[in-house]
Amino acid sequence: MLAVLAAAAILVAAQAWSAQAQADSGSSGAAAASQVSSAAVEDGRQLFLSDCASCHGTNGQGSNVAPTLQNAGPATVDFYLRTGRMPLGQLGVPSWQQERSPLTSAQIQALEAYLGTVGTGPAIPNVVASAGDLHRGWELFINNCAACHSATGAGGSIGTSLAAPPLSRADAQTVAEAVLIGPGAMPRFSFSQADVNALAAYVEYLHTPSDPGGVSVGVGPVPEGLMAGVLGLGLLILVTRWVVGRKGHVAPAEQLTVPVESDELEEAGASKPSRRRRPPWPGDSR
Ligand code: HEC
Ligand code: HEC
Repeated sequence: MLAVLAAAAILVAAQAWSAQAQADSGSSGAAAASQVSSAAVEDGRQLFLSDCASCHGTNGQGSNVAPTLQNAGPATVDFYLRTGRMPLGQLGVPSWQQERSPLTSAQIQALEAYLGTVGTGPAIPNVVASAGDLHRGWELFINNCAACHSATGAGGSIGTSLAAPPLSRADAQTVAEAVLIGPGAMPRFSFSQADVNALAAYVEYLHTPSDPGGVSVGVGPVPEGLMAGVLGLGLLILVTRWVVGRKGHVAPAEQLTVPVESDELEEAGASKPSRRRRPPWPGDSR
């Protein structure tokens, strides 16, 4: 009986100990996590002071050259950093036109952690391109995006000194973020999750559309069209020159000259013009 009690006591003690150990490890895990993120926030703050504060102000409050980051939530910050728009190299140049930024993904994460303490705005959206309906994506793209980005996603001018970028580098997350935040001159959209997936699927599809037929020279439809134009035109010019330059052939302009009346020519003492000079036309009165 005593042995059973002792065994039970040991069991209870062991359970209590293991529960305590679990609680300890849980709380130390949480502490470690918050340490990591506060370290990231601090790293991000340092990076912000060296790379961003000159334009956005030491607290991200903005300046006369750059907007405040107090309205820039995770989706905006992630979009601007992952697409290499920031840090901006040169004021006055659209940020999407600059060379991709030198920031590593660890630095981007640190900046995102820090800027998460500065601004509030929409969270990074979810998107699953592989779940997107390609036909729906095409429909949405033609109706909402093609006017600016062109039907092939090649981008183009959208007014004096404004242009929409090509979408050849935009992955699914970038598409979802762009439609959510509406960067620069682009409007914001509020699509359903299914429509965001569909758009992302379609933009990814535009990167490698299946071959629509014809001979591909592997440089994309626009340069291929240009090449076809240049080659075709060149060939046409060669053929024309060959036809015109053939011996004994009458040049078209000469063929069409109105024949001079023969009596006028006789007065001038010239010989009769050859009947061959102009073939009879259906409308001729003679
Ligand atoms: C040379 C000045 C300059 C530097 C340096 C710079 N930015 Fe910017 N930033 C701008 C300007 C100008 C805009 C607005 C124009 C645009 O969107 O291209 C902007 C826009 C942004 C936006 C979008 C804000 C919004 O609400 O639309 C974010 C986010 C941002 N910058 C973050 C950063 C971060 C992070 C860094 C440092 C890694 C940085 N910027 C460095 C000038 C700068
Ligand atoms: C009024 C013209 C306009 C319309 C409509 C428009 N965009 Fe944009 N889009 C822009 C401009 C301008 C930018 C560049 C903004 C900037 O960085 O300052 C842009 C940027 C983007 C980017 C970022 C590209 C990159 O690689 O950095 C994506 C992705 C994008 N648009 C997708 C879309 C989709 C999808 C639609 C339709 C739902 C759409 N856009 C509709 C003008 C437009």
